[in-house]
Amino acid sequence: MSIIAKLEDYLNLSQELISAMVSGNFTYRTPRKELMQKILVTGGAGFLGSYLCEALLERGETVTALDTADGEKIDHLLSNPCFRFVRGSVLDFDLIAREMKGADMVFHLAAIADPKKYVTHPLKVLEIDLVASIEIFRLAAEQKCKVIFSSTSEIYGRNPNVPWKEDDARVLGSTAVNRWCYSTGKAACEHFLYAWAREAGLRFVTYRFFNVYGPKLDDLGHGRVMPVFLKQFLNDEPVTVHGDGKQTRAFVYVDDAIQAMLLLAFDPKCEGQTFNIGTSRETTMLELAKIMKKVGNFSSEIIFQPHKEVYGESFEDIPRRVPDVSKIKKFVCWEGTTPFEEGIRKTIDFYRARKHAAVTEVAG
Ligand SMILES: NC(=O)c1ccc[n+]([C@@H]2O[C@H](COP(=O)([O-])OP(=O)(O)OC[C@H]3O[C@@H](n4cnc5c(N)ncnc54)[C@H](O)[C@@H]3O)[C@@H](O)[C@H]2O)c1
Repeated sequence: MSIIAKLEDYLNLSQELISAMVSGNFTYRTPRKELMQKILVTGGAGFLGSYLCEALLERGETVTALDTADGEKIDHLLSNPCFRFVRGSVLDFDLIAREMKGADMVFHLAAIADPKKYVTHPLKVLEIDLVASIEIFRLAAEQKCKVIFSSTSEIYGRNPNVPWKEDDARVLGSTAVNRWCYSTGKAACEHFLYAWAREAGLRFVTYRFFNVYGPKLDDLGHGRVMPVFLKQFLNDEPVTVHGDGKQTRAFVYVDDAIQAMLLLAFDPKCEGQTFNIGTSRETTMLELAKIMKKVGNFSSEIIFQPHKEVYGESFEDIPRRVPDVSKIKKFVCWEGTTPFEEGIRKTIDFYRARKHAAVTEVAG
């Protein structure tokens, strides 16, 4: 028996990991000794899904991404023989049943996660985020497939007592207010997971993300706050901060979030648990605009716009949104470590280069 093989046995680590440690060429990812797993990632062509697929392939897994999007964010993975992209909807239950067959794990990320759509398309939000999820969980329970579910900080609603721990109360408005349909849909999914675990032994982990950001987040000018601000900054237009700009968020850089996702998904002690994934750095929207302006060396003025002009009367913003991250720290020793200005710079560089490439293409 070689020394490496003996160490493998003794330490319960893989030969590749021990060889890397011995040679000094070692980057910590997630401990593994198990065989390559067959993994389905719904929403795999989205922001988080695209980074996740890449990280899973780097771990040596076989990955199928299923998404209705065009696949631009996963273009670079298509030539990998361990990767497949299936363009389709999680509402196509026959397709889901086919793709889940033989899967060891499903990362369920497919969702409508654009706040404007909670108000304009509540039915679509509920169908995709809740109805499709119920079917995915049922199939997973039937097939003994582990579910890794992407939930949200919206779960806590407007509970004023930040930072929020995973078992804190949910404080929401009336069901007549469409704005809460996303939060309620995701919370019902979490209930389904606990119920399937209790009654059929389903293995699952739930993540509640708090404003993950980075390159490839959304199309410039659309979706979440950074690409919306960035379009205005890059076009030298006034940057519109909603409300009084005092509302806070706790941003976490995408590389850190992906590391957290892997640590939680592959660690058996995290099964049956729900985790906040975020940082405790609280940033107001006005501060965010100012930091982006400084880091990107932009000259746009920053102005304010009432919420109801953007979302209509029924929208209600969450004044403070901050996670308590002690649980994830305790379970997997994870903490978001990318400095905020550095993450912002990388994000600005990405969108700036993209805009430049688009302008050059049009000019050429
Ligand atoms: N990024 C964050 O800060 C954040 C915060 C809270 C929760 N989340 C959750 O994490 C998950 C991933 O979010 P993201 O930031 O990558 O958003 P995203 O919008 O980039 O990704 C969601 C993906 O789901 C796909 N999708 C939508 N409808 C579909 C359908 N019917 N069938 C198949 N695919 C469909 C979209 O095309 C998109 O690619 C979502 O479930 C979201 O609710 C993310």
